[in-house]
Amino acid sequence: MAHSDPQILAGRRILLGVSGGIAAYKTVELARLRVSVGCDVRVVMTPGATQFIGPLTLQAVTGWPVSTDTFDPQQEAAMGHIALARWADLIVIAPASANCIAGLHAGQADTLLHTVCLASTTPLALAPAMNSQMWQHPATQANIQALQQRGVQCWGPAEGVQACGDTGPGRLQEPTELYQHIVAYFTRGSLAGCHLLLTAGPTREPLDAVRYIGNRSSGKMGYAIAKAAAAQGARVTLVSGPTALACPPDITRHQVQTAQQMYDQVMAQVSEADIFVACAAVADYRPETCAEHKIKKGTVPRSLTMVPNPDILAAVAGLPEPPYCLGFAAETDQVLTQAETKRKAKKISLLAANRVSATAGFDADENALTLLSDQGRIHLPQQSKQRLAQQLIHHLAEQYHAYLTIQNS
Ligand SMILES: Cc1cc2nc3c(=O)[nH]c(=O)nc-3n(C[C@H](O)[C@H](O)[C@H](O)COP(=O)(O)O)c2cc1C
Repeated sequence: MAHSDPQILAGRRILLGVSGGIAAYKTVELARLRVSVGCDVRVVMTPGATQFIGPLTLQAVTGWPVSTDTFDPQQEAAMGHIALARWADLIVIAPASANCIAGLHAGQADTLLHTVCLASTTPLALAPAMNSQMWQHPATQANIQALQQRGVQCWGPAEGVQACGDTGPGRLQEPTELYQHIVAYFTRGSLAGCHLLLTAGPTREPLDAVRYIGNRSSGKMGYAIAKAAAAQGARVTLVSGPTALACPPDITRHQVQTAQQMYDQVMAQVSEADIFVACAAVADYRPETCAEHKIKKGTVPRSLTMVPNPDILAAVAGLPEPPYCLGFAAETDQVLTQAETKRKAKKISLLAANRVSATAGFDADENALTLLSDQGRIHLPQQSKQRLAQQLIHHLAEQYHAYLTIQNS
């Protein structure tokens, strides 16, 4: 079997959903194709699907137990429905029965497969297979169109002679065709299929009910990176400090105020991330206490006791299985020396150093960066943050894929 680009699929996490249709036997071949190129494939079957093929067959092909039951205590103890929902880079349901499609449209959670889909923000692709009358029925067409409007991909169905003897649209696409859709999905951009977690903007450390200690970060650089990464096919989760910027389309944003909140949100998301970009200007220290009410004039203390905030980038880079990390270092003097020291101390793969000046860096529309890694230095000259972000993502993707090749070799 010829594979157009097996490397693209190596290490990808694909959740294969199987619902109850006569074409379920073809899913075995699809699972085999994907496993053969190094995909990590887990299977969830509806109870209906188990009437057509045995879970044991797909377990033997993928090497992992097949999940069928929402209420299986062993399943919930191992990789439960929420963990499965978060784990996947892509969910493919093949075959997708008329019933399965209707349930997805309605937001039902009556099978494990539907529950996982409902609990997941992972992209979903359906390969419908059914009798052609069922496919052409206005109810099925309305369901599929509504799902497509929500961003669900629909692969097929193919036309031809069906198991029931009818001829028309409704056949499951061949496993090789479905495989090509998957390859195409993961080759849409240099970060296609990657989940990128990113922090952006400033943090605010409260002094009292109305005052805070903050910094001049506008969030523009981080938001530009989020957009550039999404344009290269990445699934982007943005943890943003307070900014005036609108959330770019196709990006999941979590808004926070303080460094501690940013740390908590990043730690809650990081296990799903392939790449972590720490672009936020996080306060290193916060006031030890925060007055419940506004401090009155004349009662303001002469000095403040500050305590350290958690170091988000160091915490992520220090995880037992960290994502690929890109950090930022904004400095006013000895920029590259300080940045290289920071990169080595925190064991970060790639560090973007920038000099803060009147025309570039904080709260400006332009910036310049020097990328530092074990491979050397790359200077990206002063330009708009949008263009700079595109160049940065280009280099990040190159270095990330080189890193993956080394990890997988
Ligand atoms: C022999 C047989 C073949 C079937 N083939 C299909 C099919 O190809 N597509 C489909 O949508 N439903 C088909 N059905 C009906 C589904 O199995 C039925 O709607 C079931 O409830 C689907 O459950 P599920 O979507 O939860 O897996 C078939 C039923 C039988 C008995």
